[in-house]
Amino acid sequence: MLYQVAESPVLSLFSLKGQVSLVTGGSRGIGLAAAIGLAEAGSDVAITYNSSSDEHMKEIIAKFESLGIKFKAYKCNVVNKKDITECVEQVVKDFGRLDVVVPNAGIAVHEPAEDFTEDDYRKTMSVNLDGAYYTAQAAANAFKKQKQQGTLIQGKIVFTASVSSAIVNFPQKQAPYNASKAGLVRLCKCLAVEWVDFARVNAISPGFIATDMLDVHPKENRDFWMSVIPGKRHCQTHELKGAYVFLASDASSYVVGEELIIGGGYSLI
Ligand code: NAI
Repeated sequence: MLYQVAESPVLSLFSLKGQVSLVTGGSRGIGLAAAIGLAEAGSDVAITYNSSSDEHMKEIIAKFESLGIKFKAYKCNVVNKKDITECVEQVVKDFGRLDVVVPNAGIAVHEPAEDFTEDDYRKTMSVNLDGAYYTAQAAANAFKKQKQQGTLIQGKIVFTASVSSAIVNFPQKQAPYNASKAGLVRLCKCLAVEWVDFARVNAISPGFIATDMLDVHPKENRDFWMSVIPGKRHCQTHELKGAYVFLASDASSYVVGEELIIGGGYSLI
């Protein structure tokens, strides 16, 4: 049964004090913004990173320490089920519990569909879909165990999907990416139903967010996007923080298996 929260003043529902959150791909971009939001809401935070330099990681550690929460970063490749499973178990050991997991790591490869190499296709699917599933699965097992021990009522999983789950991005060609995100949203909905007794599962689908992922595109693409985004601008990563905290917190206690699209109106026209 879905956990029912007691009536409380609204801002208190957003508090994550005493909770522990894990964000994959949390050292930059959207994952970093989500992790900062969760920390600002009071959660202790663990992130995974894959390729960030030691220097960058030092800055990240200092940033989270300045927020006054417990923070730890784990090097982990989410496509390896054993690695991400052990990483989740290690977070529970290091922090003593786990409440929120954000499977966020993702990659985008842009190639015409007829030319997509098998390697690029597999990479796209294995990070965006397999990796997210392995992360959620490890989290679900950690939540279940804590529930049996009486230390957790309900965990929360917030996937980072994409508006590409529902629309066909243009003019860039990225059919496997779009398919991986559509699969992820479907997975989110299935897990939300299957795991409702011990986890609340939802997804955030960002539109065009100013991160390294968009930097690879030529100016013509950006100009075209501006012409089809009603909001007429890109979103900054910090503008997503509130949505991650909402879905990770009791403020969204009856939201189950939803895809929250944040696209400045992009998916509406
Ligand atoms: P980014 O490239 O800055 O971040 C991607 C993160 O995923 C990085 O931290 C990277 O290290 C991590 N990652 C990639 N492969 C990994 C692997 N095998 N194991 C572990 N970590 C791995 O890009 P951004 O934009 O922050 O992307 C984050 C998520 O948001 C992705 O899932 C992406 O598909 C999604 N997204 C991004 C949008 C955008 O406009 N930037 C729009 C919609 C969705």
